[in-house]
Amino acid sequence: MPMLDVALVRLSSYEAVREALRHRDLKQALYDEAGVVLEGTLLTLHGEEHRTRRRLESRLFRPEALRGYEMEVVRPAIAATIAPFVERGWVDVVELSRRVTLNLSALIAGIDCPHGNAEDTGRLLDHVWKLGAGATVAHAVDKAAVVAEAAEALAGYDREFFQPSYRRRRELVERFRAGQVEEARLPRDVLTLLLREEDHLALPLDLIRRETCGYLQAATGSTAMAVANTVHETLTWLERHPDGRSRLEHDPGFVQGCVHEALRLHPASPIASRRALARVRLGCGTEIPEHALVQMDLMAANRDPAVFGADAHRFRPGRERPEGVPAWGLSFGAGAHTCIGRILDGGMEPEHRWRGPDEPIYGSVTLIVQALFQRGMRPHPEFAPRRDETSTRPHWGFYPVLLG
Ligand code: HEM
Repeated sequence: MPMLDVALVRLSSYEAVREALRHRDLKQALYDEAGVVLEGTLLTLHGEEHRTRRRLESRLFRPEALRGYEMEVVRPAIAATIAPFVERGWVDVVELSRRVTLNLSALIAGIDCPHGNAEDTGRLLDHVWKLGAGATVAHAVDKAAVVAEAAEALAGYDREFFQPSYRRRRELVERFRAGQVEEARLPRDVLTLLLREEDHLALPLDLIRRETCGYLQAATGSTAMAVANTVHETLTWLERHPDGRSRLEHDPGFVQGCVHEALRLHPASPIASRRALARVRLGCGTEIPEHALVQMDLMAANRDPAVFGADAHRFRPGRERPEGVPAWGLSFGAGAHTCIGRILDGGMEPEHRWRGPDEPIYGSVTLIVQALFQRGMRPHPEFAPRRDETSTRPHWGFYPVLLG
């Protein structure tokens, strides 16, 4: 069949991109090639179907739950995961962050590690890494190879991790329905939520499986990149501010500012994409015809001097910005698909923190970066950081640092 000519509209100013991301007639299109991994998952839904699923899954991200994850899961996971690397004297921060985040994202997705040991984590990470590449196949160097690897990883993930986790939860939900188990004993995770609502949602099992791995891959890859980028920016910043080291070790609010600034400069995906369901006219006057593909340059929008100042391309933590503009720019998205895990990773912005006696939520990325500085992180004199050569995105594949 001949290909229809589809108009392509490119946007790059902060205001135009933000408006497009929030527009109800512009539908997610970045993952159109990632069906094997993402078809029917939260990230790809639109309209009422998206709202219903999002409302349900948002229950896992309420403030009490977020505080519990940070205190009881993330902090202990960082301490346990980093210890052997301190002993060894160096670590690849990409690997470290992926391992720490996997604990939390598996808990949220509802995926058990059968033996709870490092080998399990390693195998699950391997599947999740390949599924993540499949989800972001739009940026792959060799697309066919990435899709084939993702399909294989999905089969391994299903056999080793999803099926046992599913059977355990199915039995618990059935016993709960029969009045044999109290609600408080049910796990609080995506898989259990979807099983409890199955009559109402009518989701096939392969879609439920994709939803769980959607969470695993959305969390692990982006967190690792946010940590590696913050490490890179702060180590470079320290060359110009040698007195700043103690703040990076002892002031989590300052580290969080560095994380937000690094997130702004390095969005996980440099572009976002949407398809026009109707003709749209943006506030800046840009016309988007029906069916057009809208490509948004997040990197340019996040460095828009009209919003972030003349030095927008520079790493300057704590930079001033107009009211209503997040410190991370559009790196967690905007509108209906705004990242559901943004507080888990980015914490609460200082101006939005609720008052109270509890310690603020700083987010996993801040906690990992601070833990690295507290353990003496400095550039590795022999091993140089390397980019991920399997992707066209400017991502780190290996970022070694000395510890101890
Ligand atoms: C620094 C880390 C992270 C970054 C930069 C990031 C970035 C994003 C972005 C940009 C989107 C919107 C995509 C779009 O509109 O096209 C998104 C959505 C999403 N993120 Fe994150 N994310 C991060 C961490 C996480 C974590 C920790 C989780 C889960 C625990 C998570 C789960 C999700 C999910 C499920 C969605 C889809 C939401 C929806 O479509 O309603 N992310 N993320």
